[in-house]
Amino acid sequence: MDAFRITGGTPLSGTVEVSGAKNAALPIMAASLLANGPVSLTHVPALTDVRTMALLLGKLGVDCCWQTDGTLRLETVDAAPTTANYNLVRRMRASFCVLGPLLARRGRAIVALPGGCAIGDRPVDLHLTGLAALGANIRIERGYVVAEARRLVGARVHMRGPRGPTVTGTANVLSAAVLARGSTIITGAAREPEIVDLGQFLISLGAQIHGLGTRTIEIIGVDSLGGGEHRVIPDRIEAATLLIAVAASGGEATVSGVVPAHLNAVLEKLHDFGVAVSVERDHVAVRAHGRPRPGRVVAQAYPGIPTDVQSQFMALACLADGHSVIDDRVFVERFRHVAELVRMGACIDRKGSQSIVRGVANLSGTEVTASDLRASAALVVAGLAARGVTTLHRIDHLDRGYERLDAKLNRLGACIERVRIARGRRRCHKDSSSEFLP
Ligand code: EPZ
Repeated sequence: MDAFRITGGTPLSGTVEVSGAKNAALPIMAASLLANGPVSLTHVPALTDVRTMALLLGKLGVDCCWQTDGTLRLETVDAAPTTANYNLVRRMRASFCVLGPLLARRGRAIVALPGGCAIGDRPVDLHLTGLAALGANIRIERGYVVAEARRLVGARVHMRGPRGPTVTGTANVLSAAVLARGSTIITGAAREPEIVDLGQFLISLGAQIHGLGTRTIEIIGVDSLGGGEHRVIPDRIEAATLLIAVAASGGEATVSGVVPAHLNAVLEKLHDFGVAVSVERDHVAVRAHGRPRPGRVVAQAYPGIPTDVQSQFMALACLADGHSVIDDRVFVERFRHVAELVRMGACIDRKGSQSIVRGVANLSGTEVTASDLRASAALVVAGLAARGVTTLHRIDHLDRGYERLDAKLNRLGACIERVRIARGRRRCHKDSSSEFLP
């Protein structure tokens, strides 16, 4: 198992570029099952989750390979398989995004239910009622969703649950509806930029979709889709993580290759925390002024502050000059980073979906363990700001969703070493993250 050894205390400075968005790339890769011809994707991040999706698509008859120029090429070579097995789906919930495309293109999909998750309850009822509304016959058999339909039929589908619209549920229904007979209206649709990107990809293959980025998406079904090319949008969550890391370190740096509009809520919140923010066409610069001011972070669906940066904001709030409130309205149980931050000297009280953070002047480095992707990111942020050395265990979580985060932060002056923890001994190996590169 790899770990990060982070020597904190250096204010970050310089410029760093973001990678393509994981949460856009994964449903887009799944939607390549719909294409009648090769698909070329650029700006796909080289991540464990991308590799897992490529593995799953391979088992579903899609040939996935990286070209020498970094393009990911996907082409269906065998349209017979219809089963996504538990081993891959439990490893990565985004595997469930193959359900809609498989059903629409092959008439049948057998996909394992994802099971439990470290960030709390993650039901898929809206995915299933949405596809059933399009005429699919759906049953659950021995932990698998079995969905069948000779051809789906357009319908009105509602995608908003008690905690807001479902992102991958919208992706599944949108991807299925493009090949349905007639038109589909998705109400309460997710407005996240990653859903807009998926829609743009489907349009580039020949789909007819209107209203992307709004609550109501209209899809006029077509008989078939061709192949195509698409560039994945920049990762707004990675960008936010880097900006918060710079702020927490007391530094001044620029994050480039972003779409600033996707970051509006995050940038406003950084400003509330007392961080100077300046925005140009495709980059954002931040500058910290001493200790952050305390703030109130409410994570909710786009265009609100993403739940995927709630934990990183909490790490920043730990250092604020006063009390902050962190409220996650999307995943109310997503607080497994709290106990680890407390180990670093943070003062945090949980009250339901909220955490009250009493800022301290300093965090101190120690051994901490990541429980999930964004919890790991929060612990990296805290480690960069802390006094002394933080050893972050289980960075396999981090490698699922951040492309060479250690290398990028080191380029800004951070001191992060990847160490291998093996049989009670630690061996330094400077940059094993390169093994994830295409
Ligand atoms: C997506 O997960 C992201 N994953 C998550 O990113 C992200 O945290 C989440 O959206 C919220 O923004 C991908 O895009 C691959 P949801 P998803 O369905 O689609 C409830 C990361 O760290 N709900 O939008 O699985 C659900 O319980 C991750 O990159 C239902 O009630 O999340 C939650 O409260 C992890 N019924 C809310 O909706 C359903 O059928 C939003 O969940 C589905 C969801």
